[in-house]
Amino acid sequence: MLRKPRTVLFGAGRMGRALLRGWAEANCFEPAGSVLVIDPNCPEEISELIRQNSARHAETPKPETFTKLQTVILAVKPQKFEELAAVIRPMLPDNVLIISVAAGVSLEQMEALFGAGPHIRAMPNIAAEVGKAITVLCANTMADNTHIETASGFLKAVGQVESVQDERLMDAVTAVSGSGPAYFYLMVEALGAAGQAEGLPEDLAQKLALQTMIGAGALLESRKQDTVAALRAEVTSPGGTTSAALDVMMGNGAFAEMMRNAVSAATRRSSQLRRPG
Ligand SMILES: NC(=O)c1ccc[n+]([C@@H]2O[C@H](COP(=O)([O-])OP(=O)(O)OC[C@H]3O[C@@H](n4cnc5c(N)ncnc54)[C@H](OP(=O)(O)O)[C@@H]3O)[C@@H](O)[C@H]2O)c1
Repeated sequence: MLRKPRTVLFGAGRMGRALLRGWAEANCFEPAGSVLVIDPNCPEEISELIRQNSARHAETPKPETFTKLQTVILAVKPQKFEELAAVIRPMLPDNVLIISVAAGVSLEQMEALFGAGPHIRAMPNIAAEVGKAITVLCANTMADNTHIETASGFLKAVGQVESVQDERLMDAVTAVSGSGPAYFYLMVEALGAAGQAEGLPEDLAQKLALQTMIGAGALLESRKQDTVAALRAEVTSPGGTTSAALDVMMGNGAFAEMMRNAVSAATRRSSQLRRPG
């Protein structure tokens, strides 16, 4: 007979699935039966992964499966939090650790919804789907080092983990690493379009742009001892082609200023979403 679950994950959507795949690789399902996944519409591929890892799936929470619970991980949309809290709050054991990966739900809101106790906000990004996320954690005062290590363990299965103490910084985290993958995709699109404008066929231009960005990222990752600026200087010969392009991008601080304004807009938007109305 399977033991009672110690950990429950709510939501097997994009982020929940990424976590589950990472947990399978990192043995986070051990011991058998310790993880319960709750989602009303679990895709078959994920149900299979859950079965293969001796975990369990349910469509809705049941009080009898919550008695030994130590950790609740919330990977549902922020709009679903209130409804979910109303259902599960009466079932939660005292001092259960609540970890939320929802963008923009504050620790104060979590405490109001789920009650006082150890709560941790985590901001991962979509690269969790390939185990290359960077996640930032922020804990409330009830969460101790053991709780933070627990949260870190679940999130390290999908990439790197950092933490901040000042929760106000989570808006900037959201703007840099949460939204950041889209900035990279835009860069690839724009570079490809620029190549096309110079006469390259569309497919080739997009392929050159994409593989150049991926290759440059991989080189940067392999050269951890160098700063990004040093690597940029190394590949920029004075008076050469790269230098001609960088002069345009960096002239009058244009690129830096655009990025500064973009991240500032995303930070502002994140704080507005936290305080509706
Ligand atoms: N995707 C990202 O890149 C990303 C990055 C950082 C943070 N996040 C955060 O991760 C959370 C999930 O995002 P997502 O993109 O994975 O959303 P998603 O794909 O919509 O997944 C959410 C899942 O939760 C299910 N669900 C809804 N209500 C539930 C309930 N009461 N109990 C159990 N499961 C329930 C949904 O089912 P239905 O579809 O049937 O409603 C859906 O399968 C969000 O809070 C988001 O802010 C996502």
